[in-house]
Amino acid sequence: MPKLSLVDATTPVTADAVVVGVVQGERLRLAPGAKDIDKALGGKLLAALQAAGATGKPDEVTKVPTLGLAKFPLVVATGVGTDARSAEAQRRAVGAALRALGGKRTVHIALDGDLGAIAEGAELGAYTFTAYKSGTSAPALRKLTATGTKDRATRAALDRAHTVAEAVAFVRDLVNTPPNDLYPETFANRVSERASAAGLDVEVLDERALRRGRFGGILAVGSGSARPPRLVRVTHRPAGNRKPVARVALVGKGITFDSGGINLKTANLTWMKSDMGGAAAVVASTIAAAALKLPIEVTATVPMAENMPSGSSYRPSDVLTMRSGRTVEVSDTDAEGRLILADAITRAGEDEPDYLIETSTLTGAQMVALGTRYIGAMGEDAFRDRVTAAGNAAGESVWAMPLPSELRRGLDSSIADIQSLTGDRWGGMLVAGAFLGDFVPEGLPWVHLDIAGPAWNIGGAYGYTPKGATGAAVRTIVRTLEELAG
Ligand code: BES
Ligand code: ZN
Ligand code: MN
Repeated sequence: MPKLSLVDATTPVTADAVVVGVVQGERLRLAPGAKDIDKALGGKLLAALQAAGATGKPDEVTKVPTLGLAKFPLVVATGVGTDARSAEAQRRAVGAALRALGGKRTVHIALDGDLGAIAEGAELGAYTFTAYKSGTSAPALRKLTATGTKDRATRAALDRAHTVAEAVAFVRDLVNTPPNDLYPETFANRVSERASAAGLDVEVLDERALRRGRFGGILAVGSGSARPPRLVRVTHRPAGNRKPVARVALVGKGITFDSGGINLKTANLTWMKSDMGGAAAVVASTIAAAALKLPIEVTATVPMAENMPSGSSYRPSDVLTMRSGRTVEVSDTDAEGRLILADAITRAGEDEPDYLIETSTLTGAQMVALGTRYIGAMGEDAFRDRVTAAGNAAGESVWAMPLPSELRRGLDSSIADIQSLTGDRWGGMLVAGAFLGDFVPEGLPWVHLDIAGPAWNIGGAYGYTPKGATGAAVRTIVRTLEELAG
């Protein structure tokens, strides 16, 4: 993925395509930044766009060929909606334009605005996943430019945008990779390689180490698969042995494929390779924290397992002894995420962090409550609200949800310390959050982000979001880490 670079306003624009914005309103307007492009076309750009039917609506992309009049053969007008000044509107508009420009090698963006947001939208929108396409695919984007001055703050904003976009792309690549190629062992390898290359510390626990460490939840969930589970830990520390201003634990669900196990699923199975989206998001966020040189310590603890039915599977009604020493009665083998997460949360807590951020494709109930795009946030109220605000500021949609105390009582088991489900289906997203909360050390500010819907886009592409893997939660986590770093 090329990084967006700046050219000053006096340099004539040359590119395979130039992106301009169009603003929705009573009369169609060109968004700020398009003046020189319009001038090169004899001041007729707006009239051409009107003739082509442009309205400025978000996700509307109108292509106008320049017929030899300019040093760029194509202008792409992207709808920014009614508020051209919103950073997220700029991200989405530029993202939609770059998605529509697959196969172009050089693209220039002529839109004045928040250059960090414009770079982020462009790089996120230019993402493609071609690893499994044979034959000659379309040429990749090689050069991405915009008009602007290279002051220090702008340069930092562009670096940050590139770091965030690379983190999101890493998550999308991992989640899009099919489960016959991405299973606990290979997932752990890919994470190790990338994290080591970024200078992070990596620790991988294989099945034997998990047994020695009494990770009863991870071992049970992984027991039905021919591909054994793993626990991977990735740590970023501030350079030069400086004392971190905060120590943050990240945890993410890494089910490489969720068949449901003995409680075999009957629906949405093709979507269940996305069940490691939380694990990928916390690893990528840790790598981003290192690239951004944040003066905090961040450790991602990710349990990886494949939930499969077989003669060696765990069963509904099994009682597991967890890493914490507490016992769990298994209500349903398809509620596997909370079991591997409980062990990972216990392990993360042993480091005595200052904060815990956990994210998972945990419940279908998240989509019943909030639809497919809103992340559900639960946890300790003050920290939950802080992370929710950070996520929304970063351009993700996050909604704070409660953890009513009566739900925890519904998890009381008649034979073990706790059971994995309540006796009814009400508040399924919150029940899962309450279960996780039971394994969080007393007094630790924590948040659980349910990304079941947001991690995987079943509908059409929009803005900078492609079909399939989205990279959900990365931008929320990175923004939160930046705030904790001060
Ligand atoms: N991985 C699923 C949740 C999920 C569902 C993610 C749809 C993405 C899309 C999770 O492990 C699961 O199976 N949850 C069950 C819980 C049930 C057994 C209480 C569910 O949501 O149906
Ligand atoms: Zn699952
Ligand atoms: Mn499941």
